Amino acid sequence: MSKRSKLEKFSENQKLENVLENFSYENPCLLKNAFEKLDLKSQWKKSFFQNDNPLVLELACGRGEYSLGMAELFPQKNYIGVDVKGARIWRGAKNAIARKLSQVAFVRTKIEVLPHFFGEAEVDEIWIIFPDPFLRKENRRLTSDHYLNSYLQFTHKETDFHLKTDDDTLYEFSLKNINAHPHFEIIDHDNDIYSKSLSHPALGIQTYYEKIHLSKQKKIKHIHFKIKSFTNQKD
Ligand SMILES: C[S@@+](CC[C@H](N)C(=O)[O-])C[C@H]1O[C@@H](n2cnc3c(N)ncnc32)[C@H](O)[C@@H]1O
Repeated sequence: MSKRSKLEKFSENQKLENVLENFSYENPCLLKNAFEKLDLKSQWKKSFFQNDNPLVLELACGRGEYSLGMAELFPQKNYIGVDVKGARIWRGAKNAIARKLSQVAFVRTKIEVLPHFFGEAEVDEIWIIFPDPFLRKENRRLTSDHYLNSYLQFTHKETDFHLKTDDDTLYEFSLKNINAHPHFEIIDHDNDIYSKSLSHPALGIQTYYEKIHLSKQKKIKHIHFKIKSFTNQKD
């Protein structure tokens, strides 16, 4: 089979039933087939997945290995992989179709606009998987205050948050920042998850980037955190 170019993947994304895309950050909206506007805010379970199962987001999903792997481990949940890179989303969406995982979808957008697409208390679990550590720009890290505050807008007191990373700077920053945040608390953290038995079965799922880090003998770290007090803080 010939290798598809990026442009071919972008074009195919527009035809895939399990991909929705946002093309504007000033005026965010989700499009299916590049033109059909879908307002799914607070409606994902009922209208999109047509069930009442918990909703799990995989942030910085890349090729979506976590959404696919967790959908096989825990089929009674709905999964949405979120990433800005269309060619990576395409790979995840094609794999979901090939593996007949109808409870997995992908949203191509920047994570910063997610409060436009998810309603109050709509999301039950968030996995942040090997996000870029942004070593020189703390405020772009997905565990910086701006992002943590935005997650509060579409989660609830029982929502579980997980960060998996190879990066020491991001790990230490996240521990400190989540601890210092008035509405979050750390439940559990580990700076070398494979040195003992895994604290969560999904931690064994390995992504494209994780395999690269493991081949360089990097230690894989995990933080499990939750909301300790809840307000409808808007930003
Ligand atoms: C290092 S890759 C990890 C991909 C995948 N989770 C893995 O482990 O193979 C980081 C991903 O985060 C995405 N990303 C970074 N910042 C983002 C943002 N603000 N909004 C959406 N995606 C973002 C990038 O496009 C990239 O695919």
